[in-house]
Amino acid sequence: MKLSTLSASAALALSTLTAATHINYTIVPGYFLQDDESTDPSTFDYTANNFGLIPRTYDADKNSTDSLSIWQRFHRQLIYLNNHAPKHVSYKLFFMGRHGEGYHNAAEDYFGTPAWNCYYALLPGNTTHTWFDADLTPSGLEQAQIAHAYWLHQHTLHRIHFPDLYYTSPMTRALKTANITFTGLPLQQAHAAPFIPEVKEGFREGMSMHTCNHRRSKGYIEGLFPGWKFEAGFSEEDELWTGTTGETSEAQDLRSREALDDIFLRGTSKRSNIVPLPLKGVCHGGHGPGHSGQEDEEEEGKGKKDLVVSITAHSGEISSILRVIGHQPFRLSTGAVIPVLIRAEEVRGQLLPTTTTAWTVSAYCTEPPVTSVTDCVCASSAAPVTSGFPVFATSIPY
Ligand SMILES: *[C@@H]1O[C@H](CO)[C@@H](O)[C@H](O)[C@H]1NC(C)=O
Ligand SMILES: *[C@@H]1O[C@H](CO)[C@@H](O)[C@H](O)[C@H]1NC(C)=O
Ligand SMILES: *[C@@H]1O[C@H](CO)[C@@H](O)[C@H](O)[C@H]1NC(C)=O
Ligand SMILES: *[C@@H]1O[C@H](CO)[C@@H](O)[C@H](O)[C@H]1NC(C)=O
Repeated sequence: MKLSTLSASAALALSTLTAATHINYTIVPGYFLQDDESTDPSTFDYTANNFGLIPRTYDADKNSTDSLSIWQRFHRQLIYLNNHAPKHVSYKLFFMGRHGEGYHNAAEDYFGTPAWNCYYALLPGNTTHTWFDADLTPSGLEQAQIAHAYWLHQHTLHRIHFPDLYYTSPMTRALKTANITFTGLPLQQAHAAPFIPEVKEGFREGMSMHTCNHRRSKGYIEGLFPGWKFEAGFSEEDELWTGTTGETSEAQDLRSREALDDIFLRGTSKRSNIVPLPLKGVCHGGHGPGHSGQEDEEEEGKGKKDLVVSITAHSGEISSILRVIGHQPFRLSTGAVIPVLIRAEEVRGQLLPTTTTAWTVSAYCTEPPVTSVTDCVCASSAAPVTSGFPVFATSIPY
């Protein structure tokens, strides 16, 4: 609820723009192993088979005798899907990356999930570790380097189409993961869009009472990554995290949907929605932001440009996006990446409900709890409390 209130001006702009329209998101099966029921998310390794891209033929292959790589052929198919769809239907490939391991992930392992959830996660850290807006651990840094190396490998081997747009959650662990993943790739040689991510609140983790979900200021992020963009209205201080209530899954899905809408409805002026046609079969790069030069072609539906989108976010947030687009649950380990081919259809005359559920409190202990593998068990058999700000959370300086 808080999120919707605070993004009220953005929401208002959006609803004005899309009066009586909503976007129906669905996945397009048959392209990636991850949306096949027989794939087990718990053992899946995105670096084993081209991020999960299924080797196959495409409609767009038919008249072609060339020898494009697997990713070049996929990208041509992505353009083909857009060009052969009605105006109000568009397709994009999303690469969603979970941040590498953060100090809060390590702490959850250390204390055990029940004790973490009902006590330790509400603290900003202990005397040796900080989990408020947690930073990457050494293994988290390594996981981001693996993602970087894999993008490079896929480029070198298969000429993968680098993202046309980059988004990241404003949490430090996601910002740093995106930075390590995409800095230093040969984007320019590939005629791809430059790596200038947009920092977007809508891709934050599910907003719990945990301090790991309390972000640092805009100024801090600007200092860390000068030149990165912020979505309109991004506040200096974190106005979303409350410390006393947490977002429900329904509320989270609603703001994930709003964030997707922002991406699909971006640049909706009539002249700028065109998919550049395949350039002599090499559909590789060359139409990033400010790069298109295709504005004088016939009007097409919204969203038919910037076809490959990267989002660096969180486990719970990626799960929420997967729910919104109707993908099977696919929990990512830290640092893992999932590609999803999304079909977006503008449906007129049908508004989605704009009300959202209020955030809720979760029970916590006021003293360090007893270790338990299943439940939150407070010390001295005290009952967990559900009201009031956990004042002890401020007792350790950030
Ligand atoms: C969304 O699109 C899918 C696939 O085209 C369709 O089966 C479904 O009925 C649509 N849902 C809504 C609410 O329009
Ligand atoms: C291939 O050729 C057929 C018949 O000429 C045409 O209908 C189809 O659109 C072409 N496909 C592509 C991908 O160019
Ligand atoms: C603080 O928490 C970490 C787990 O994240 C643990 O490894 C470390 O030993 C703790 N420090 C102290 C002083 O208890
Ligand atoms: C961004 O990534 C580059 C390349 O890995 C690294 O050298 C630099 O330290 C990173 N910046 C931050 C603030 O983490």
